[in-house]
Amino acid sequence: MDPITVWRALLLLFLLLELASSDDSDFVFNGFSRARGNLSMDGMAEITLDGLLRLTNGTNLKGQAFYSAPLQFKKSPAGRASSFSSTFVFGILAGYSQLSGNGIAFVISPSKDLRRNFGYQYLGILSPSTDGNSTNHLVAVELDTIYNPDLADINDNHVGIDVNSVVSINSSAAGYFANGTDIFKNLSLISGDPMQVWIDFDGTEMQLKVTLSPLGVIKPLIPLLSSTVNLSEIFLEEMFVGFSSSTGSFSSSHYILGWSFKMNGEARPLNISSLPSLPSRKTRHNRLALALSLSLGIALLLLLAISAGLFVLARKIRYSELLEDWEEEYGPQRFSYKDLYDATRGFKEAELLGVGGFGRVYRGALSSSGMEIAVKKVSHESRQGMKEFIAEIASIGRLRHRNLVQLRGYCRRKGELLLVYDYMPNGSLDKLIFDQRRPTFDWKQRFHVLRGVASGLLYLHEEWEKIVIHRDVKASNVLLDGELNGRLGDFGLARLYDHGNYPMTTHVVGTVGYLAPELTRTGRSTKQADVYAFGALLLETACGRRPIEQEAPEEEVLLLGWVLKNWRKGTILDCADPKLEGKYEGKEMELVLQLGLLCSHPLPPNRPNMRQVMRYLDGDASPPELSSIYLDGGVLEALQNEIFHRINTSSLSSISADAFPLSGPGFHSLKPGDGSSTSKSRERGMIV
Ligand SMILES: *[C@@H]1O[C@H](CO)[C@@H](O)[C@H](O)[C@H]1NC(C)=O
Ligand SMILES: *[C@@H]1O[C@H](CO)[C@@H](O)[C@H](O)[C@H]1NC(C)=O
Ligand SMILES: *[C@@H]1O[C@H](CO)[C@@H](O)[C@H](O)[C@H]1NC(C)=O
Ligand SMILES: *[C@@H]1O[C@H](CO)[C@@H](O)[C@H](O)[C@H]1NC(C)=O
Ligand SMILES: *[C@@H]1O[C@H](CO)[C@@H](O)[C@H](O)[C@H]1NC(C)=O
Ligand SMILES: *[C@@H]1O[C@H](CO)[C@@H](O)[C@H](O)[C@H]1NC(C)=O
Ligand SMILES: *[C@@H]1O[C@H](CO)[C@@H](O)[C@H](O)[C@H]1NC(C)=O
Ligand SMILES: *[C@@H]1O[C@H](CO)[C@@H](O)[C@H](O)[C@H]1NC(C)=O
Repeated sequence: MDPITVWRALLLLFLLLELASSDDSDFVFNGFSRARGNLSMDGMAEITLDGLLRLTNGTNLKGQAFYSAPLQFKKSPAGRASSFSSTFVFGILAGYSQLSGNGIAFVISPSKDLRRNFGYQYLGILSPSTDGNSTNHLVAVELDTIYNPDLADINDNHVGIDVNSVVSINSSAAGYFANGTDIFKNLSLISGDPMQVWIDFDGTEMQLKVTLSPLGVIKPLIPLLSSTVNLSEIFLEEMFVGFSSSTGSFSSSHYILGWSFKMNGEARPLNISSLPSLPSRKTRHNRLALALSLSLGIALLLLLAISAGLFVLARKIRYSELLEDWEEEYGPQRFSYKDLYDATRGFKEAELLGVGGFGRVYRGALSSSGMEIAVKKVSHESRQGMKEFIAEIASIGRLRHRNLVQLRGYCRRKGELLLVYDYMPNGSLDKLIFDQRRPTFDWKQRFHVLRGVASGLLYLHEEWEKIVIHRDVKASNVLLDGELNGRLGDFGLARLYDHGNYPMTTHVVGTVGYLAPELTRTGRSTKQADVYAFGALLLETACGRRPIEQEAPEEEVLLLGWVLKNWRKGTILDCADPKLEGKYEGKEMELVLQLGLLCSHPLPPNRPNMRQVMRYLDGDASPPELSSIYLDGGVLEALQNEIFHRINTSSLSSISADAFPLSGPGFHSLKPGDGSSTSKSRERGMIV
């Protein structure tokens, strides 16, 4: 044989081997009835009797399903990422009042086990600590139904391409370009209607395209999204493909109806007529049964009507509520008293979470959805201003941020207003900081909570359509959700006082120790007053002490004064909470303490705004030198003395215990007495 023949033979052999080893995976699931053995499922994921792949159903859940076998995305470690194509049909059924959990992600990941990734808002594929890390080797297409500005989301209904991070490299509002045109039609991911997604990657062009359409509409020619991305750098040789979903605090169900995947070629089409169907959103009345029962029951009905009449009357009294014409537009946010009554087992004492100035708070679970709620009962005597207040509640209910306690709605009865919030399983921040019995809430967690609160407050101040002033930022209004994220509660509620329903209080609302000095003078709530209270919260959290502690030695009664003194002496870290036993990041502690002083500056213009605070906390900027801002000319001393004077002269007893009760989630510690103590101090000529 001459060398050329040998060479050719070898080349041929090589090509054949290459072909043989190329594992061009190709699978189609038209429904998942027979796919149990082909999928690895984790979390809540399961295959229903109808053959649907259900990823999650409920609140605070995660579900994942991966194709069991790894697929070869690269031929060698340094090789080029193969082209692939996939299409799937999904459906999202939103639970209560059209709010949905976080969404669904199509994931390509080096591992089938994503359990270390606990962040619900990260769709169950990443977590705050892993997000963005290039060692993730993760590519995903997210169908995201929550607006999370922290993660650079564009809205609460979008599709995004994610590479190693849930901050998408490209994203678009959900929709599609109609049949060969460039007319864009919006889609609602949580509509409950099935939709189809196509994901195509061209390895040569390094183009990843994502296309969406309602089920039954042919694949639009123009993709919804595309990105040029070198997946050769991201993929390992073997990767797993599948789906992940998480629901957070909104109940919803996430389903996959069918799925097709092909390596190096176009995914085979799904057979739409053989896909299982989604559970219907509402069970329709069976007409036949209705007719039957009608004719049969007519006689019985008469009889029943009489006894029922009596029953209804009794019920009506028990469940009576106020409902006026103008409330019609708030339908979705209106809860029936009966539902709340049942949810809290008749407002049983055992369900009482706590008592605050605004009323009693009960824990409950809605029987319709199982959703856990906290119901706040606020007594109100007058109907005056109620219309405005309800309008405000409705508008507050539209606020959506992961660092705010979601207000779900309300119910009105005679002399009573009931507000329905998400239930926060970990109680309030003050409990965690001050309760000696439990292990100390560590510094990392505290810092995370403070950052969260700052982000929530920034949202209220600057990022929503309207400016919302919280008016009562304090540790007992910071609640912790299941993941120990800090969430602000009770925003805007203080407005209730403005409507004149509470004759025993003045217009100054808030809690002594968190009240900005100018507030007592002008009586007008401002963003800066919120910043002041946030400053008090920073100091309180770092020092593990309340803003005013009358038990302390005289020079330490006022936390602000004490921290300031230590800062001047250069011993600011002496203020750190001794319960932390020195286990904290010195830099962060110092930052928080200094920022606390900065925010608590007596003169409003010297306080930073929340956007600046956020940048300081994130380390994106350093706060200005305290000494240049804080009082060389003894401004502060004067003010401190004033405050001191005020505290000493007004009755300390009425400030102390009542102002800082160890109350449960989300209530005000402002008791009737506090209001008068505030006004008393005002009469005594407070500040400037
Ligand atoms: C699913 O698993 C079964 C049994 O192991 C196998 O016969 C079938 O080919 C697999 N289907 C797919 C699409 O991988
Ligand atoms: C799933 O959720 C729906 C609606 O919330 C509910 O009717 C159904 O019982 C749930 N199924 C399971 C198995 O939890
Ligand atoms: C990325 O993850 C690796 C491995 O988990 C870890 O060692 C590294 O510190 C992480 N990098 C960053 C910037 O978090
Ligand atoms: C879609 O496009 C095809 C050919 O371009 C046309 O025949 C058909 O009528 C179009 N359908 C709709 C609903 O516009
Ligand atoms: C489609 O959605 C976008 C953003 O969500 C919105 O600005 C636009 O008005 C919507 N268009 C229609 C026709 O609803
Ligand atoms: C995002 O996708 C759209 C639609 O395909 C495309 O026009 C745009 O250039 C993409 N943006 C980036 C940054 O890739
Ligand atoms: C893509 O990434 C691979 C692996 O890092 C690299 O070898 C290749 O040159 C990259 N391609 C382009 C066009 O940058
Ligand atoms: C699609 O599914 C239907 C119903 O199961 C079946 O009758 C039909 O033959 C299938 N079509 C194809 C192309 O497989």
